Amino acid sequence: MSMGTSTGTGTSLNTSAFASDWAAGELEGAVRGRHAVRQYTDEPISAEDRAALEREVAICNELGNLHMGLVWDEPEAFDSALAHYGKFTGVRNYLVVAGAPANDLERRAGYWGERFVLTAQRLGLNTCWVALTFKRRYVRAHLAKGDQMVLVVAFGHGATQGVQHKSKPAEDVCSPADGPDWFRRGVEWALLAPTAINQQKFRIELTDGTAGAKPQVAVRDLGGSYSKVDQGIVSLHFELGAGTDNFAWANI
Ligand SMILES: Cc1cc2nc3c(=O)[nH]c(=O)nc-3n(C[C@H](O)[C@H](O)[C@H](O)COP(=O)(O)O)c2cc1C
Repeated sequence: MSMGTSTGTGTSLNTSAFASDWAAGELEGAVRGRHAVRQYTDEPISAEDRAALEREVAICNELGNLHMGLVWDEPEAFDSALAHYGKFTGVRNYLVVAGAPANDLERRAGYWGERFVLTAQRLGLNTCWVALTFKRRYVRAHLAKGDQMVLVVAFGHGATQGVQHKSKPAEDVCSPADGPDWFRRGVEWALLAPTAINQQKFRIELTDGTAGAKPQVAVRDLGGSYSKVDQGIVSLHFELGAGTDNFAWANI
């Protein structure tokens, strides 16, 4: 996959800058500690955290060529039988993930939206990606003309921290099954990523680079609903776990 076209230009560099801003172990703590949370308390998000999240969204929009927007203190979108059926309660803040229509919009939405998710987790907030269970007309009201909404990320102070999802074994999602340490760590972090209905329909492939070049990695999308969004999310987790110095994205 060309991350140049899939996630904006110079992605790997931007990812290493993002990763280097975290204290030792802090990023891994966020990746391991993040779980989907659908129930939120009414504790307000501090002005400082709001400003930090607004800054992060502005950076991700710029780097990912997206038009994501934060909606604060708006309970209507998740106040419906549908949302409650989906077990969402107390959602008052959400990120609208959107951009100009493009072939790679979903993949970029996943990649940059997940960076927002990890940033929120770092601040002690909880999140849940949501494709279905919200009232679209409330969310659409926040879209710029011509933009396409991909999905939203609900966030806030969770009533719980959520639970670890069940995962496929690493050997089912990667080849080779016994790659170098950095590759195995990338795959491990990829398996900690959220995917739609926890489908984990992706395959991570490592191929040797030609003489002197870095090994190449591809994250393949095996199909399924929202699997292109998943592909973007998983690519970010892989990069963060593997370290961007160790490989180059294959052009797929
Ligand atoms: C693209 C995408 C769409 C999702 N849509 C919904 C949704 O509509 N409703 C919902 O309750 N959860 C949704 N989720 C959350 C997933 O069910 C959840 O991330 C997955 O089960 C893995 O659990 P975890 O996030 O705790 O690791 C979505 C996740 C992703 C990545």
